[in-house]
Order: sequence, then C-alpha cells, then structure tokens
Amino acid sequence: MKGTFPINKFRELRTPFYYYDTKVLRDTLSHIRTEVAKYGNYSVHYAVKANANPKVLAIIRENCLGADCVSGGEIRAAIKAGFPTDKIVFAGVGKADWEINLGLDYDIFCFNVESVPELEIINELAAAKGKIANVAFRINPNVGAHTHANITTGLAENKFGISMQDMNHVIDMAHDMKNLRFIGLHFHIGSQILDMGDFVALCNRINELQDKLEARHIRIEHVNVGGGLGIDYGHPNRQSIPDFKSYFETYNSHLKLRPHQTLHFELGRAVVGQCGSLISQVLYVKQGANKQFAILDAGMTDLIRPALYQAFHKIENITSDAPVQTYDVVGPICESSDVFGKAIDLNGVKRGDFIALRSAGAYGEIMASGYNCRELPQGYTSDELV
Ligand code: LLP
Repeated sequence: MKGTFPINKFRELRTPFYYYDTKVLRDTLSHIRTEVAKYGNYSVHYAVKANANPKVLAIIRENCLGADCVSGGEIRAAIKAGFPTDKIVFAGVGKADWEINLGLDYDIFCFNVESVPELEIINELAAAKGKIANVAFRINPNVGAHTHANITTGLAENKFGISMQDMNHVIDMAHDMKNLRFIGLHFHIGSQILDMGDFVALCNRINELQDKLEARHIRIEHVNVGGGLGIDYGHPNRQSIPDFKSYFETYNSHLKLRPHQTLHFELGRAVVGQCGSLISQVLYVKQGANKQFAILDAGMTDLIRPALYQAFHKIENITSDAPVQTYDVVGPICESSDVFGKAIDLNGVKRGDFIALRSAGAYGEIMASGYNCRELPQGYTSDELV
C-alpha cells in the first residue's frame, strides 16, 4: 500500500473505479457536526447531486444530515439510504408532476419553488391528494460568485429562482392557495466558492429582503442559503477538510437571523469532494512529436469535470517511485477534450501503473456517462477494501 491507497486490493478490481476513503468522509462529517453544534438553529442537508453512491449516502445519513434533492430519482435514492422524509427538501426549476407527487406521497419537508407556474401545479397536485405542501421560494438574489461561469447560479441572467421584484407578488399568491404552506426562502449563488466575501454578499441581500418582508408583517420560519463551499483541489490530503469553521461563522456574523428562525444549508462538494479518487491504470505511454502522453483507461466519461469546466484534479502515479517526467494525461475517448491534464509531472509512468485523480468525490461518479458504449465506473469504499 502506497500512501493511503490499498494497492493490492486495487489489483483485484477492474479499473477505472471510484475509491472513497471513509476516514476522510467521516472526519469531514464530524467537522461539520462540531461546527453546526455551536449554533443552535443550523441544519445541514446534503446535496445528493454531488454523489449518490449508496455506500456514501449511508455514511452521510448516519451522521444525521438531511437530504437536498433535485429529482424524483434523488428522492428515491435518499429514502433508500434511510434519510428521514421530513429531512428531505426538493429543489429544481423543472419538477415533473410525478416527481411532485412522489414528494407529496412521502410528505417531504419542503418544496423549493422556482416559478409561479410550478407553484400552481404543486397546489393543484396537493389538493388532489388532500394534502398541504410546505413550500419555500427560491429567490434569485442577483449575487455573483467568483467561480466558473458554468456553476454560478445566483445572477439575474441565470434560469434559477424567482426574481426579487416578483417575490412579494408570489408570496401573496401562495397565501391564497389552500394547499400550500409558505415556510421560507431559499437561495443558492453557485458552487466551488472559496471567497467568504461571496457569502457575505448573499447575507447582506437576505437581510435587505427580510427587512422588507417584516415591514409587510410576513413571517419566515426557515432561511435556506443553499450550498457552494469550495474545496482545495490543489493539495488534497487527509488533512484538507474544507473550512467549515469560517463558512458557518460567516453566516453567523453577517446574517441577521430572527430568534425563531432555522438556517438551512445544502452542502454537496464540501462534504464528499475530498474523500474520493478516480483510480485508473495506464494503458500506454506514447511518444508524440514533442511531448509524451500517458494514456489511461479512464476518460471523460468517468470524470467529465476537466473536459466540461477545465477543472483541475491532482494526478498522482501511486505505484511508482521512478524519477519524475512530464506527460499529457489523456483518456481513451474519441474527443480531443478527453484530457485530464497537460504537462503534468508524474513519477515515471509505465503500462499498468495505477493513477489516482484526486478530489473526485463530488460530481465525479454521478456525472459519468456511457458515451462510446463504456461501462459506468463502480464505486468502492475503503471499508470494503481492507
Ligand atoms: N443547492 C442547490 C440549489 C444547488 O444547485 C447546488 C449545486 C447545491 C445546493 C450544492 O452545491 P455545492 O455545495 O456542491 O457547491 N457539476 C458542477 C457543480 C454543479 C453544482 C450544481 N448545484 C461541478 O462539477 O463543479
């Protein structure tokens, strides 16, 4: 075993696959619990979209987090993993009728509503079942996040949420709908945010909105600030737990939460990102005209983030101590964007070496596709490979 990887066990498996270090996951969850316990009225829902591997979900559920879902499939995955239904929130701009009905049947905690037409349909479907649905409005706060354009969501130009101008009108509408109970406001400005100033900007915006609503005697029980806390992709190791302390402290010192209110968070990447690696083997080392390529058996179908967002994942040769050489690390897919990294320094690579793509626990396995008729990668935990 080199570093923290059980290489001998890896040799028995077919690559590529995801490997989840459960010690890292449990340490991360324990940090979250310690920080959240400092504030009596904070509640964390795990954003299932980041990773729905059943073994990962089970560990998160054991640590008492709720589940933030964006589809009927995610609601089912959360329930299967044992998340209590009254700790499930359901967001998404395009909820289909069957998905809303599923949420109603399970009496989930809350629908985060993103438009007037959706509000009307939830009211209608709830009426048909003789139920009252809890709803929160996702407000688009028009706050930018200093992150990749494809993963910023809180700007007026994005498709998400209800605009601040429409908020009063929508709240009035909800009050007149008999099968809805308006319980809160929901926000989410983007993902992979490392500058706490972005969260401060969101807090300031929420404070303004709350003051306005209070002036109209509108009572909000729950404020949900979404997720977005980023991780350190540059230097992943067992110690690189995201900065939960600063994150929760930022909300505590900048958001004017009323004493009766609960503050909800929907963290995805920060919970699971650092515990996962994509494990691959080198198929060929190929000498090009002026560089050499390490061709892996993993490709963009297994981990699409580098191709889609030009995301950086640290690449390590975990079975070689040979002198370092420079490689373009690529996959086998018939797309020129199937590149994990250019000019990467790795311990000398040979066929069969194991290569780890680190910090791949979030938006890795779950975003895998079968393009080129490839099989989906499996996911294994360190608990299984001992
Ligand atoms: N809540 C809502 C409403 C969201 O849209 C998201 C993520 C989250 C919570 C969780 O955000 P997190 O804590 O993970 O940043 N595939 C992209 C990330 C897309 C994030 C989409 N929404 C990536 O690989 O970077």
